Amino acid sequence: MINKIKALSAEIESIIANNADEIETIRIKYLSKKGEISQLMADFRNVAAEEKKIVGQLLNELKDKAQTKINSLKEQHAQTDNIEEGIDLTRTSYPDEIGTRHPLSIVKNEIIDIFSRLGFSIAEGPEVEDDWHVFGALNFADDHPARDMQDTFFIQSNPDILLRTHTSSVQARVMEKTQPPIRIICPGRVYRNEAISYRAHCFFHQVEALYVDKNVSFADLKQALLYFAKEMFGADTKIRLRPSYFPFTEPSAEMDISCNICGGKGCPFCKNTGWVEILGCGMVDPNVLESCGIDSKIYSGYALGMGVERITNLKYRVKDLRMFSENDKRFLEQFKKAK
Ligand code: DAH
Repeated sequence: MINKIKALSAEIESIIANNADEIETIRIKYLSKKGEISQLMADFRNVAAEEKKIVGQLLNELKDKAQTKINSLKEQHAQTDNIEEGIDLTRTSYPDEIGTRHPLSIVKNEIIDIFSRLGFSIAEGPEVEDDWHVFGALNFADDHPARDMQDTFFIQSNPDILLRTHTSSVQARVMEKTQPPIRIICPGRVYRNEAISYRAHCFFHQVEALYVDKNVSFADLKQALLYFAKEMFGADTKIRLRPSYFPFTEPSAEMDISCNICGGKGCPFCKNTGWVEILGCGMVDPNVLESCGIDSKIYSGYALGMGVERITNLKYRVKDLRMFSENDKRFLEQFKKAK
């Protein structure tokens, strides 16, 4: 009996196990009711009386040893198993903070979504542009006063290279390369040399849309604008078009929507007019089509351009434009629930 106990004790000492299943098999082998140690316990009653004390002690030690061994195997494997399952026990217990989408991205994506339902696809162009694509091709004469409307950042060593002041430059690029039908939407960042304040910044974001094909009319433009306004600001939204001027469109218009804050009744936001301006638009000037190699006798088109910050302000009532570029988490986290 004593020899058997010693042999088992040595065996238990040298046990290794690779996973929880193996540990369980070992437990059953030694410690279950029919296990080897229980078997020895059952045989104990046959041990001669004078050996009972020593054998009893050895048996108890053996049982403790087996239990301790199994416990320590379990502990070891709890750690490695967790790592295998992708739980990293060295990681901080503070919860990970998930970032939020920037409000301007949320709104930009929404604008893109709406126009993509009308069949528009995205086109992009460079932010560092040349004079031709920002002004020349878009019908700004060299001495055109409209160039002064936009305070441009020029690259000092080369006045022909500048930071684009509007994403209309992308329409010029696309028209140069593609013949109609063209139906594009151009989101992107633009730059103007403005003093930074709560209502102006030296960079902001625009989305431009351009549709050129045979027989495109102002009615098509109006329909697209109405659809956009209703999708963006709700089905009750009304639009109105006011005559305006842009060198690259003729006729040109500015679009107002019924103030979505007071519902058109008049409030400080809409300066009591019930309307707020949201974008510029018009029929592409035939000169622009010709400059870009498109026959204006066959094709016509409409274009429109809007500021993403402006639309975002209307949707989320952000009062200070600077918030968009300050990366203040208290501001950004408010958009967690937005799409
Ligand atoms: N490019 C104009 C701007 O930056 C916005 C604009 C107005 C775009 C009329 C257009 C348009 O396509 O038709 O102020």
